[in-house]
Amino acid sequence: MNATTASTDSGTPVPSAEKCPAFPPPHEFSARAHLGSLEDYRRLYRESLESPMTFWRRMSAELDWKEPWKELLAWDLPHARWFVGGQLNASYNCLDRHLAGPRCHKAAIVWEGEPGEVRTLTYRQLHWEVCRWANLLSRSGVVDGDRVVIYLPMIPEAVIAMLACARLGAVHSVVFGGFSAKSIRDRILDCGAKIVITADGGYRKGKIVPLKERVNDALEAPSGVERVLVVRRTGERVPMRAGRDCWVDKELKQVDARSEAKPLDSEHPLYILYTSGTTGKPKGILHTTGGYLLGCALSTKYLFDLKDEDLFWCTADVGWVTGHSYVVYGPLALGASVFLYEGSPDFPQPDRFWRMIERYRINILYTAPTAIRYFMRMGERWVEPWDLSSLRLLGSVGEPINPEGWLWYHQKIGRGRCPVVDTWWQTETGSVMIAPCPGATPCKPGSATLPFFGVDPAIVDDQGNPVPSGTHGRLVIRRPWPSMLRDIYGSPEALRNTYWSEVPGVYLTGDGARQDEDGYFWITGRIDDVLNVSGHRIGTAEVESALVSHSKVAEAAVVGEPDPDKGEALVAFVTLRQGEAGSEELKNELRRHVAQEIGAIARPKEILFTATLPKTRSGKILRRLLKELVRSGQIEGDTTTLEDPATVAALSKEVGKAAD
Ligand code: PRX
Repeated sequence: MNATTASTDSGTPVPSAEKCPAFPPPHEFSARAHLGSLEDYRRLYRESLESPMTFWRRMSAELDWKEPWKELLAWDLPHARWFVGGQLNASYNCLDRHLAGPRCHKAAIVWEGEPGEVRTLTYRQLHWEVCRWANLLSRSGVVDGDRVVIYLPMIPEAVIAMLACARLGAVHSVVFGGFSAKSIRDRILDCGAKIVITADGGYRKGKIVPLKERVNDALEAPSGVERVLVVRRTGERVPMRAGRDCWVDKELKQVDARSEAKPLDSEHPLYILYTSGTTGKPKGILHTTGGYLLGCALSTKYLFDLKDEDLFWCTADVGWVTGHSYVVYGPLALGASVFLYEGSPDFPQPDRFWRMIERYRINILYTAPTAIRYFMRMGERWVEPWDLSSLRLLGSVGEPINPEGWLWYHQKIGRGRCPVVDTWWQTETGSVMIAPCPGATPCKPGSATLPFFGVDPAIVDDQGNPVPSGTHGRLVIRRPWPSMLRDIYGSPEALRNTYWSEVPGVYLTGDGARQDEDGYFWITGRIDDVLNVSGHRIGTAEVESALVSHSKVAEAAVVGEPDPDKGEALVAFVTLRQGEAGSEELKNELRRHVAQEIGAIARPKEILFTATLPKTRSGKILRRLLKELVRSGQIEGDTTTLEDPATVAALSKEVGKAAD
């Protein structure tokens, strides 16, 4: 141990107070924070690793258990069961338990639609809605364990539907409203849903998103879906299929509002959320009840320093894990007031966020670097007129935040007063893994700083050996944690192979990172074939298979290119079938095709037609060469394994032409 760095038993160094880097927590903030000093953080963190039983016994009291748990963890790699023997219900924890005290008539959700309408739901009202919805689902034949697909805009009903599923023990699978009919269908089939919940539409950038039409397309061929419940949002006429589709508002008139939350095993599945990986098919990440909910609640409390009087705004859509954990389960489990916004940050103007922060006096803002970069680009004139003095904490998630973005966020939005918490985590991890405790941890712009309680990260080389501080390597997690993924739905063998076997015995995150001399983690981004476009994960293999499904395409390889706005942008190398010729028109056609197959977020920014792709003798496409080519305009890396070395020269010419 050196003079400035303490070390836990697991070897993770924690900075000592005297080595305070750039931004120490403001005194007034620390004085009121749940965790007010680095020593407190260090003590708790150490306890979480060294005496997990004592630590989690105390922390798990944050939730309301119907049956107390007996065993902390049953770990049979890659399968974990946390809080074994315990029973609870996530919906009960997010609603019923708040009704007995002063939170009963407190706002649970404050919502603004894109066109400007406002709705507030108190805990009492949200509970009433969720109970009626749970009865509606029961009447529709849903029982515990059934899968329910939710394809809704960001309206309170999205939260209501999720909690109604949780109340019954049904497993929700929320599909982001930007995904295409084909993506919805794939998810419905993969999880075997028999119910879909959608809306007549939602508002985005002043236009109506045709959600119901897409669901209709998704269900055109036989699917196993018996019922489609449709929320009235826009009032547009939408095609309804008799016997299958029904309007939620009508149906709700026929159910009563009494519904007991079903006590469920701690390991009862709560949801499946699909995310992109390195294969052509998204993975259904399965989260269960007890450990997940506790991970969300604790991280919300300590990392966002959430207080009863706060209005908390996580801008993520509920279609992503951030929306699951920090719009719904974390804050509601704590009885917080959550702000929800339906639409786009630039509608009708780029000041929409700041206008709403002033109007509703929002206290905590949690958003993505992509949004921050967008606001930076738009310029301060959109921010300055607004009174942002209600803000006391800022958060960032989804991709590495560049120090300039961090500083701008801190200065222009936080007006120099608010700590900025850069939170690193993944769909698989369920809740935040590495982030500062805002009243305790000094921040360094661009670093996610230190691990959260119970999280044991390390940086290792390709063989799994720890690397010295300052050296870049793979980010791994060395022991299970409560909110970790429990399975990949429908392919249990993939769980071990994807996460737990490449570096034996530890969880492989797929991210690269380094640790500095203070033990701070600096995440540099994905080191596998997953791209991060505007904070959204996209598998290169998925886009490639979408491209290849077009009748004119023979082969495709997709790589990422650094993009000042989106973090990364997709560049596709495409070889066409014999007799086909590349053109601007075909490029647009292919972009449209990808949007149809996956969704608009996967549309390649650039498409390059090329006669060949660089391959090894065994036929594997060498994407690293393509990556190098788009990043530096040339290939200097090892080309000895190439089947045909002439490909490199041909490709360089293509890229050069495109640049001209
Ligand atoms: O590459 C990391 C990046 O986003 C990936 C996880 O994506 P997803 O499962 O969609 O979840 C996003 C929201 C949690 C990670 O593997 N990532 C997420 N947060 C950060 C980040 N990269 C750097 N810094 C972050 N704070």
